[in-house]
Amino acid sequence: MKSTVEMGAAGGAPALIDLEELLATRLLVQGNSGSGKSHLLRRLLEQSAGSVQQIVIDPEGDFVTLAERFDHVAIDAAAVQSDLQRIARRIRQHRVSAVLALDELEVEGQLRAAAAFLTGLFDADREHWYPALVVVDEAQLFAPALSGEGTDEARRLSLGAMTNLMCRGRKRGLAGIVATQRLAKLAKNVAAEASNFLMGRTFLDIDMARAADLLGMERRQAEMFRDLERGQFVGLGPALSRKPLPIRIGPVETSGRSGSPVLIPLPEPPGEAATELIFTASPDEAESERNPVPQRPRPATGDVLARLAAQRPEAACEREPEIDPAEAAAAVEEILAAMAAEPELAGRDLPLLFQDFSGRCRKRGLGRAVPPLSEFRRRFAIARAGASAETRGRPEWEAALAHAAGLSEDLQGLFLYVARLALEAAPAPGDGDLGDHYGTRSPGRLKRVLAHLEERGDLVCHVDAAGRRVLALPRLGIETAPGTAAAPEHARRALRPRPRLDQRLARQ
Ligand SMILES: Nc1ncnc2c1ncn2[C@@H]1O[C@H](COP(=O)(O)OP(=O)(O)OP(=O)(O)O)[C@@H](O)[C@H]1O
Ligand SMILES: [Mg+2]
Repeated sequence: MKSTVEMGAAGGAPALIDLEELLATRLLVQGNSGSGKSHLLRRLLEQSAGSVQQIVIDPEGDFVTLAERFDHVAIDAAAVQSDLQRIARRIRQHRVSAVLALDELEVEGQLRAAAAFLTGLFDADREHWYPALVVVDEAQLFAPALSGEGTDEARRLSLGAMTNLMCRGRKRGLAGIVATQRLAKLAKNVAAEASNFLMGRTFLDIDMARAADLLGMERRQAEMFRDLERGQFVGLGPALSRKPLPIRIGPVETSGRSGSPVLIPLPEPPGEAATELIFTASPDEAESERNPVPQRPRPATGDVLARLAAQRPEAACEREPEIDPAEAAAAVEEILAAMAAEPELAGRDLPLLFQDFSGRCRKRGLGRAVPPLSEFRRRFAIARAGASAETRGRPEWEAALAHAAGLSEDLQGLFLYVARLALEAAPAPGDGDLGDHYGTRSPGRLKRVLAHLEERGDLVCHVDAAGRRVLALPRLGIETAPGTAAAPEHARRALRPRPRLDQRLARQ
């Protein structure tokens, strides 16, 4: 699976976007009309189409042409207006790339449709929190800085949905990519949540000032945005470049429905006949008024839903050669073990881990044998606990697995890790290690998680006479050896030395 996308050229070198980083850190594209934003988004979508699910909110209906070349489902919002939330949930469930075309709706309808659709994506069941790019072109329409078009209620709904996407989408696997003509017209909280920027040609001082603020540049330096050519952008952010990087966006394979205006030679001037031509109906016109052109036929909701279901990745996989189930299970175990052993994956968000995992499975041709997200989470937690073959053969490990299954999903990895250490008589780990197995780098959060496990009686943290940390699992009757380093400050303050668990158990 490709994890970098080539956007074009930066000097003599290719300009790359790191897809995984992009999923975690979002992107804001700004540039005046005609600067090449939609072209840039198309380039990003085309180049990453095989690697990540894509969902496009498309006010102009320009991106529906992606469906001709790739697997995107084009959704005519006007035709399925009342079902958009349900359709959005299905899109997440089946991991289908889709383009929501809003061009047949009035502004009010566009706002309501985008809000319903985004809410459906956001409210998807936890087990469907797969990673996806959510591209919103003309984002200032849906998240205006000030009152814009449409009623207050419609604007409030769409702004709320856009804010959710940008502020709280990451945990749910949703990565917002927003493009706007005018930074000053885009709600500040929506713009501020993107950590990557691609700035194109910008004329107005107020937009330049906001761009400079967002990029942490001198306002004078931002003047350079005025001189950019069409298709030229300055990129900055963790997925792009640490320093402002001028990029020329490369070509695209599909074309939008709207192009640049070109000059067409005028016909011979009709002279005095011009007045008559304008005020008299032609025979064609009279004919078309008698027989109006039929409206473009619209698919019913049922058709769209059926298409979404038919496009399930599983359905595509049915055409793949059957792979022996035992072989597939062994390959999945191998992939999980390899990922568990990679230190750079520690502390990553679940959607990103799953994206990586699915890519590795696809490379091995596993097709239908790829476990779903919820199963991946459980099995990866077990793999990351790192139990040796000998430990895995012990009945106590079985008991640990059974107990972990009764815990909430996010606690299972941490619990199994401590159980493995205890069964192998290994020393208690430090906070950093524990945080990696829970999936947090925040000491405060880890402290709360440990306190929660203690409250439940699943884990006891104590220190031995030498002030070293020991972690006990009372329900399994096991505990780790004392940690090699001194117990962290919070553990020492909170807990007095306690006798070893076996001594306590013997006393009871
Ligand atoms: N990098 C590029 N290479 C070649 N053509 C480009 C490039 N960028 C943009 N164009 C062309 O320039 C025209 C305008 O680009 P585009 O539609 O992407 O602008 P935009 O910033 O989205 O404008 P608007 O805000 O009005 O939608 C299009 O015809 C597009 O094909
Ligand atoms: Mg555009």
